[in-house]
Amino acid sequence: MCGIIGYTGKKEVSKILVKGLSRLEYRGYDSAGIAVLAKEKIRIRKKKGKLSVLRDDLKRVPIEGHVGIGHTRWATHGVPNDVNAHPHADGEHSVAVVHNGIIENYREIKENLKKKGYDFLSDTDSEVFAHLISDNYNGDLCEAVKTSIKEIKGSYAIAAMHKNEPDRIIGARMDSPLVVGVGEDETFLASDIPAILDYTKDVIYIENGDIVDLSGNVCSIYDSDGQKVERDMVKIKWDISQAEKGGYKHFMLKEIFEQPKVLHDIFKERIIGDSVAFEELVIDEGVLKGIKNIAIIACGTAYHAGLTGKYILEKHTRIPVWVDTSSEFRYRDPLVGENTLVVVVSQSGETADTLAALREAKSRGSKVLAICNVLGSSIAREADGVIYTHAGPEIAVASTKAYTAQLAILYLFAYYLAEVRGDSQEHDKNFLKELKKLPASAEKILRQYHTDENILEKYAGEFHEYYLARNNKSCFLYLARNVNYPNALEGALKLKEISYVSAEGYPAGEMKHGPIALIDENPWVVCIAVEADTYEKMLSNIQEIKARGGLVIAITTEGDTEIKGIDVNYNIRVPRVPEMFSPILVIVPLQLLAYFIAAEFGYDIDQPRNLAKSVTVE
Ligand code: G6P
Repeated sequence: MCGIIGYTGKKEVSKILVKGLSRLEYRGYDSAGIAVLAKEKIRIRKKKGKLSVLRDDLKRVPIEGHVGIGHTRWATHGVPNDVNAHPHADGEHSVAVVHNGIIENYREIKENLKKKGYDFLSDTDSEVFAHLISDNYNGDLCEAVKTSIKEIKGSYAIAAMHKNEPDRIIGARMDSPLVVGVGEDETFLASDIPAILDYTKDVIYIENGDIVDLSGNVCSIYDSDGQKVERDMVKIKWDISQAEKGGYKHFMLKEIFEQPKVLHDIFKERIIGDSVAFEELVIDEGVLKGIKNIAIIACGTAYHAGLTGKYILEKHTRIPVWVDTSSEFRYRDPLVGENTLVVVVSQSGETADTLAALREAKSRGSKVLAICNVLGSSIAREADGVIYTHAGPEIAVASTKAYTAQLAILYLFAYYLAEVRGDSQEHDKNFLKELKKLPASAEKILRQYHTDENILEKYAGEFHEYYLARNNKSCFLYLARNVNYPNALEGALKLKEISYVSAEGYPAGEMKHGPIALIDENPWVVCIAVEADTYEKMLSNIQEIKARGGLVIAITTEGDTEIKGIDVNYNIRVPRVPEMFSPILVIVPLQLLAYFIAAEFGYDIDQPRNLAKSVTVE
C-alpha cells in the first residue's frame, strides 16, 4: 500500500508534498516523510504517526526547496517508526527514494550490498532501493534506476532523486499505481490523482515497466525495453471539492450521503429508454452470448457486492454464477476457461489479489470484465472490458458509495446481458423502472438521519453504554436471507472495520447450526426482515432470538404491521421495493449504524487502525 508523491518545479515543495500526502493517507497512515533537494543537498524529515505529526514538525522547522518526494506508509516490513518511515537514503544522502510495493528479493540484494560495504538502518525492504541506485549510479539517475529495477523482483512504484541532479525526479512502476501530473513549469508524480488535483488536471497514467524522467516541466517516459514512448495525456473531469469533506464530519458520512446522487447519475447515464448502454464495455456480444457461466471475483466490500451480483445475475439471466474472494481464486487452480465470463469488482482497481486473479483468468482463456471506480487503474486497463461505477473519489477506508454503485452496475449488467442473449424475462419490463426509483428512496432513508431525532444515533448511544456496562463484552450478529444475505456480511464488516466491535454476518437459515449458541442477552442481533418471499421465515428467526433473551434490531419495510406483534427492541424502516432491489436500500441504515457506533466510541472513522483503502500487496 503506501502513497508516494514527487514534485519538481518552482513552488515551495514541502507544502505541496504534505498536501498531496494528505490526499493519499487513505493508502496508509502509520508514518510519513518527505525529502527535499536544495543546494546539492538532500534533507529528509520523517515521523512515526499520522501526517499531522510531520506537518507540525515542518511548521516548527521548515525545509525549503523546489524539488522533493514524499511518502505515507502502511507498514509491511518493519514496525512503524521514524527509521522505517520513508524516504530512505543511501549512507551519504546522495540518493533518496520513496517506494510503494514489496521487494520480494530484498534479503538477497541487501546481503550483496552489505558485502560491498553498504550500511542499512531500517528493517524495510524499500531501503535496498536507495543503496542499489547509489551503487549503480554513474552520473545519470535515470540510468541508475533503469539498471536497478532489473535486479528487483516484486511490486513497486518509486520516486527517486539524486543530490547532483537538482531539478530531476525519476519514477518507475511495476504493479503499483503511478501517475504523472503535468502543470505549467512543474511536473508531479503520485500514487493517485487526488494528490495532485489542486495543481493540474492533465494526467498521464504510467504503464507497468515504465520509467519516468521528470526534469522541470519536461516529462520523458521509457518503456521496459528502455525505448522512449509517448503515453496519452488524460484530462480529469472531477474536481478536488469532490475529494473534500464538504461540511460533513467524516468522509465516510459524506460518502454515505452521496449515494442517492451516485445512483441517480449511474441510472441517468446508463439507462437509455428501455435499454442499458455501456460505452466502455468492449466485450463482443458474440462472446457474451456464448458464455456458459460467470465467475465474480473480488475482495472485501466489493466481494459482498459480487455475492449480491450472483443473486441478481442468476435470477435475470439464468446463467450459473459463482463468487470467489480473489486471494482464494488465484491459488486454487480455478475451473475457468473460454466459456466463463470472469467479472472482477474493485473500487480502487489496484487490489493486488484481484489483479492477480484477473491475470490468472485471462491466462486460462476467459474474458474478463472489470467493474471499477478508479479510471485508468491497473485492473480497468488489463481487463478485456470495463464498466466504471463513476462514484467519484472514495476516501474513507470503509467503503460505502462504491458498494451501492457496484450493486447498481450489477443490476444494469444483468439486464444488459439478458437483453444481449435475448432471454429477457417477462418481469424485466419493470426492472429499469424500479431501478430508477431507488435514488429517491435512498434519499428518503437518509433524510431521517439528518435530524436531531436520529434514531440510529440513539441506538448507537445505547449500544455504547451497554457495551461499557458489560466490560467491553458485547458483539453483533447480522442475519438475513436470500438477496440480502450479503448485506448481513457487509453490515457486519462495516461495524468491525470502524468500531472494532466483533460482528458476524450469517444466512438466517444457518442460525440453528451455530450462531444460536451465542444468543443470550449479550449480542445485538440485526435481522434484515424486509418484504420478501422468506419474510415469514425471518419472523420465525426473530421469535427464536427473542425467546432466548436476545436483543433484536429489525430492518423492516415501511407499513409492515406484523413486526409490531413481535417485541423487537429496535426497528429501522426502509421504503417498499421489490425484494430483488432491496439490498441497495437496506445497506444504507446499516452503514449509518456502524458509523454512529464508531462515532460514540470516538474512533478515527476515516482511518481505522491497521486497515488501508487500497491493498496493493498480497
Ligand atoms: C480494502 C478496503 C476495503 C475494500 C477492499 C477491496 O480492504 O479497506 O474497503 O473493499 O480493500 O478493495 P477494492 O479497491 O478492490 O474494491
